[in-house]
Amino acid sequence: RAKSNPDDADLTALLGRIPTTRKLRITQLNREEPDRVQRFCVEAAGLYCDFSRNLCSADDLEALIRYAQSAGLAAKRDAMLAGEKINTTENRAVLHTALRRPRTDVVRVDGIDVMPEVHQTLDRIAAFSDQVRAGVWRGATGQKITDIVNIGIGGSYLGPELACHALNRDANPGLRIHFLSSLDPVAWTQISKDLDPARTLAIVASKSWKTLETSLGALAVRDWLLAQGVARQDLHKHLVAVSTNIAAATEFGIAEQNVFPFWDWVGGRYSLWSAIGLPVMLQIGADGFRQMLAGAHAMDMHFASAPFAANAPVLHALISWWQSLVTGSRSEAILPYSYGLRRLPAYLQQLSMESNGKSVDLDGNALTTPSAPVTWGEPGTEAQHSFFQLLHQGTDSIPVEFILPLPARDSAHASDLALVANCLAQADALMQGRSAAEVQASLKQRGMTDAEIAKRAPHMVYPGNRPSSTILMKQLDPASFGALIALYENRTAVLGMLWDINSFDQWGVEVGKERATSIQPLIESPDESVLNGLDDASKALFKRIRSGLAQRI
Ligand code: F6P
Repeated sequence: RAKSNPDDADLTALLGRIPTTRKLRITQLNREEPDRVQRFCVEAAGLYCDFSRNLCSADDLEALIRYAQSAGLAAKRDAMLAGEKINTTENRAVLHTALRRPRTDVVRVDGIDVMPEVHQTLDRIAAFSDQVRAGVWRGATGQKITDIVNIGIGGSYLGPELACHALNRDANPGLRIHFLSSLDPVAWTQISKDLDPARTLAIVASKSWKTLETSLGALAVRDWLLAQGVARQDLHKHLVAVSTNIAAATEFGIAEQNVFPFWDWVGGRYSLWSAIGLPVMLQIGADGFRQMLAGAHAMDMHFASAPFAANAPVLHALISWWQSLVTGSRSEAILPYSYGLRRLPAYLQQLSMESNGKSVDLDGNALTTPSAPVTWGEPGTEAQHSFFQLLHQGTDSIPVEFILPLPARDSAHASDLALVANCLAQADALMQGRSAAEVQASLKQRGMTDAEIAKRAPHMVYPGNRPSSTILMKQLDPASFGALIALYENRTAVLGMLWDINSFDQWGVEVGKERATSIQPLIESPDESVLNGLDDASKALFKRIRSGLAQRI
């Protein structure tokens, strides 16, 4: 296994380029470098990725690609796609890509070809989805299902929720999809007030079937169904499950024929393509879901075969890593200029930060360069009226990713063009900035005196030279959406491979859960002496909470 380590000559050479790059201007690179478009813009699986507005010279890019080669990226990528157990702390393969491969492919895990079972399950959920969408599947009173409630959290809802919003155009008008993820009982109270139990079908989505939020949510929904008159022997008409833990799901009371499986070699945050994607299939149909799989597969095939210099996920990873090093920024902003993609930042937060928010490498040694930045963002143009002030004139230069689907071909709204224009304008303004001379000239034109100009101008200068990437989608349709998500999944995997970390486990989520289990008795026990082991501040806080809780009726 090629290791990237601090004394790695290529890494040192690469980091040594940073001071020079910091003196460059993106506008100058875009004006003067030959072949800038060929080098920094790439088309893959229907997406057009424009990385040209990044602070990265042609020489920088060559050094990055050299580093990727010396870090053994191709071998690591091939190992992942082939099903090797690269998730070494859990001794698992990482094969979300297998979920979107054609039936005729062969992918072995422990010597067994998993593709037959992948497609049997896909066919099973397709048949189930067809039945529900066609009204063949009936509830306890014989009525069609009109509402789906997905009970799940993290990767068991973020991908499906994003996809259902993004692909709403293709939605089946007769079926509403709801997502219950919150532990707060207010969530189910609010969702259920619009629901008729006789026409509601709940999906309990949990890879492990050990997630408190989902277990309590499932109990609340099951109790609601029973309380609303659904007989126990009819529960199977209103409750299905998606899990790797079939025994636990049937133990909970889900009828065996209603449990749709997936496998431990599918990470939760990479599971949209599995039966976890059932809400998406219920919304857009099996054909639409298969188109989404095909779009992702097209991106995977590009990722597996394109030379690094023309490989969208590899360039995406290398350039975003380079921008975080050059700007020193420890965050990246995701800005979809699309209402349908408004949940993309939230989805990418888990994908990126749960995959690469690590601080030791595969051998358990402390990392010497920073790993994942904080991922955040909101849809545009709302973001322009919220935090673009900081992006343009703040003290930090924060790398930005614009995701821009072109308007639907049958859309004739004037605001479509304004949305596109605003996205392009923001990328341009971040790069160009506005110099003092330009500001002074414009204020002079407005008739300001020199004294007034001297006072106002410094506040209106934009430093510019702020990097961004633009990912253009022809349409927000299932295939393009699948390609977009696969682009980010593969970018995430490449970053982990460059940092030599395990992007596919998540030990950092355990402590919080354990602490919550040990802390809950301290706030619910009638005996206040349980607080004796706490420090004074915690004791004061817990006492205040205990008294507040005691006032509950
Ligand atoms: O946050 C920890 C985590 O395990 C995520 O990785 C996962 O997507 C989420 O919780 C839900 O887990 P499960 O699908 O097993 O309920």
